[in-house]
Amino acid sequence: MIGIFDSGVGGMTVARAIEKLCPGYPLVYFGDIAHTPYGSKSIDTITRYSMRNCDFLLEQGAQIIVIACNSASSTSSDALRKKYDVPIIDVITPATEKAAAISRNKRVGVIGTRATINSTIYEKRIKKILPESKVYSQSCPLLVPLVEEGWLSKRETKMILRRYLYPLRLKKIDTLVLGCTHYPLLKDLIQPRMGQRVNLIDSSVEAALFLQKYLTGMPDLRNKITQHDGPSKFFVSDLTTPVQDLASKIFCRNIHLEKINV
Ligand code: DGL
Repeated sequence: MIGIFDSGVGGMTVARAIEKLCPGYPLVYFGDIAHTPYGSKSIDTITRYSMRNCDFLLEQGAQIIVIACNSASSTSSDALRKKYDVPIIDVITPATEKAAAISRNKRVGVIGTRATINSTIYEKRIKKILPESKVYSQSCPLLVPLVEEGWLSKRETKMILRRYLYPLRLKKIDTLVLGCTHYPLLKDLIQPRMGQRVNLIDSSVEAALFLQKYLTGMPDLRNKITQHDGPSKFFVSDLTTPVQDLASKIFCRNIHLEKINV
């Protein structure tokens, strides 16, 4: 199975993209709702939760793990790779490669949680590929709660977005990385505020494309993953009606979430 974890339900944007782009592979998803948000926690805490999430996914039979959460990817992926033998895919690498490949004026913006932006990982990775690039980062801590409240097109959300995005507009970026699981749900509000010429990079789609390519080159792993012929499973560490609603909204169908105690 392909194991996917996130701090909550937002990582289902990654699971959904994987389901679309890598059909036929059973998924096991874990959303750590009981401890969300990760984006405002320390590196130590995010790493501890991430290790526990990996342990759970491996117990469920995962043969590869996708860290859907940008905050966990940016702070904990090295520690996870050191600890576990299975391949670990993060959401940062694919998005930075894409940004470096498509930016024409080499001015790239990144938005994410505080943990992701403070890690400076996007900046370092993009500059490693494109040393002459300018990378402008902006943490947007209010966006996750707004998405979780379902305020996807409210006036207040638009105002807050304008405030966060304005400094990036001034920098004349031509590419903006949506470095958080929740931001793809705000794409339709972000695009007009940045202008139609700015490329938006959805880190969930890029991660799914990366995984698709990775699996193509790994026939043995592919066979192992598909040996499990049951349906995909979705686990959460807490379950409320808004969580259930957001999961169904992301998947555009009813998703059965199973609550477990970890
Ligand atoms: N999943 C987180 C991320 O992509 C957003 C929510 C949180 O802060 O836990 O960074």
